[in-house]
Amino acid sequence: MKMTTFFLLCFSLIVLSAQDKPTDYLSADFHKERRAKARSLMPPNSVAVFFSNAERNRSNDVDYIYHQDPDFYYLTGYKEPNAVLVLFSEDHKTAEGKVYNEIIYVQEKNRRAEQWNGKRLGVEGTKEQLGFEMVFNGSEFQKSNIDFEGFDKILFFDFKNDYRDTRNNADLFDLIKTFKIKIDYPSDYNATRQQIYSMITSTEIENSANVAQTLGRYLNYYEDLKSDNLLAGYVDAKDNDKRKEIQDKVSLEMKSNNLNSFLLAEIMNSLRETKTAEEMVLLKKAVEISAVGQLEVMKAMRPNMSETEIQGIHEYVYKKYGAEYEGYPSIVGGGNNGCILHYIENNKQKVGNELVLMDLGAEYHGYTADVTRTIPANGKFTKEQKLIYDIVYNAQEAGIKASVVGAPFQAPNEAASEVVAEGLVELGLISSPSEIKTYFPHGTSHYLGLDVHDKGTYGPFQENTVITVEPGIYIPEGSNCDKKWWGIAVRIEDDILITKNGPINLSGMAPRTTQDIEKTMAMPSVLDSFTLPGLD
Ligand code: GLY
Ligand code: MN
Ligand code: MN
Repeated sequence: MKMTTFFLLCFSLIVLSAQDKPTDYLSADFHKERRAKARSLMPPNSVAVFFSNAERNRSNDVDYIYHQDPDFYYLTGYKEPNAVLVLFSEDHKTAEGKVYNEIIYVQEKNRRAEQWNGKRLGVEGTKEQLGFEMVFNGSEFQKSNIDFEGFDKILFFDFKNDYRDTRNNADLFDLIKTFKIKIDYPSDYNATRQQIYSMITSTEIENSANVAQTLGRYLNYYEDLKSDNLLAGYVDAKDNDKRKEIQDKVSLEMKSNNLNSFLLAEIMNSLRETKTAEEMVLLKKAVEISAVGQLEVMKAMRPNMSETEIQGIHEYVYKKYGAEYEGYPSIVGGGNNGCILHYIENNKQKVGNELVLMDLGAEYHGYTADVTRTIPANGKFTKEQKLIYDIVYNAQEAGIKASVVGAPFQAPNEAASEVVAEGLVELGLISSPSEIKTYFPHGTSHYLGLDVHDKGTYGPFQENTVITVEPGIYIPEGSNCDKKWWGIAVRIEDDILITKNGPINLSGMAPRTTQDIEKTMAMPSVLDSFTLPGLD
C-alpha cells in the first residue's frame, strides 16, 4: 500500500469513528459563556462550588443509569460523576502567574474501571473537549489551596445527603467531606434557617410585622426551626423596635460565617429560565420527537393493547430519533388510572374502550419534552368523554393565549382555570367555581428545559422561555357525581415557546382536537403487521 493511500485510509477511519457518535451536543463555548454569565451574577469576592450528581445503587453491583445534575451539566458539559466545579467571582493567579477564574476536578482515568463501565474524559479530555484550562483529578481537591476563609461568600447548594461512600477515594462522598472541612461547615447547618435569616435582614422594618406573621405560620411546619431563639423572638415580638433589635442580632449571626446556600439557586433560576438559540435546537428536537411519538401511537392504538406496550411504542420512537432517555417516568393510564396524576405502574393488561392518558417526554442530549395526549383506545370519543375533553381543550387554548411576554407566571393557570370551572359548573359536576380543585387539582404550567420541572424565577414571562400548558379534568370512580362521568381523565399538555410575537406551540405536531385525533386514529399504522410469536 502506498504511503498516501495508507494516510487517506487512516484519515477516513478517524472521520468515520468521529461520526460514530452524535455531534450535536451543546458546544464547549455555550458552557463557557454560561459560566461567565453565572460569574457576573456572583457577589464580589465570592466563590461558587457545584458538585456532580450522586451515583445511586439499583441492585447488588448494578447502579441506576447515571444522570448528571442539570446545573452541573449546564455549566460544564461534563457527564460523569465524582466531579467538582469551582467558580471565582474575580480572577486569581497561580504561583507561576497563570490567571484563572475557574477550576474543575474530574474523575481520574483508569483503564480497568473504563473497561467495565465506559470511557472517562479525564484531565486531558476535559481540557480538549470541554475547553477548561484548570483541570485536576478529584483526588487533588483535598490538596487544593483554595483559601475559602478569604471569601466574603461561599455559594453552594446544601447537601441532600443521598450519596454513599464507595471504595473510590475521590467519590462524591469524599469530595463533599473534603469541602465541608475546608469551609468549616457547622454540623447543625440549616439551609432553610439561613434563608429565613436573609429574608429577615433584607426586610424593611415597616414591613416586618407582615413577615413575622407569615413566618409564624411557616414555622409550624418546621419543628427544628421553632426552637431557634432568634426566629421565635422575631415572631413573638410586640413592636417594630423589638423586631429591629432581633434583626440586628440576626445580621450579626449571619456575619459569623461566610456560607450561603440560597444565592446559587437564585443565580441558576435566572440563568436557566430563558433558553439560548443553541439550547432551543435541542429542546425543540426533544419536543418534536415526543409529538411524533404521540402521533404514531394514535395510529397504532388498539383496545387490546396494554399500557406497557403503548409506553414501549412511544419510547421506541424516542430511541429511533436518538433520544437517550425519557425526561421522567412515562405515564400511560387507561380509564381510571388516568386520574392518578403521576401514574407510572402502566400495568393494565388491556386499555379496552376507555380513554388513555399518555404523558411522556423524550430527553434529547439533556433537554426534555413533556407532552400529554388523551385519546379513546377504540378511536371514537363517547359523548361524555368529548364533553370533558372539549372543556380541557378550550382551557388549554385560553392558557396558551395567556402565555405572552410580560404576563405574570400565573396567567395561563388563571385563564385555564376559569374555563375549566365554568365548564364543570355547566355540566353540574360542581356547583361553584370555588370547587374546581375537586376535579382539577394541579397547576397549569411549569418551566421546561434540562429538568422537566425546570428552573426559573416565576417572575413575568420573558421571551425565549419554554413552559408547559397542561390543564386537566380527572373524575375518579366513586366521585360525588353521576356515574356516567366516573373514570374519565383528560389532560392535554403542550410545550409552549414564549416569543415577543406571541406563543408558539412546539408540540403542535401531535393532533389535539377530537376531530384530528379521531382522523389520525383511523389511519393505518406500520405496527398493524408487527406480530410476535405467542409464548407458552
Ligand atoms: N409529566 C409531569 C408533568 O406534567 O408535570
Ligand atoms: Mn408537565
Ligand atoms: Mn407531563
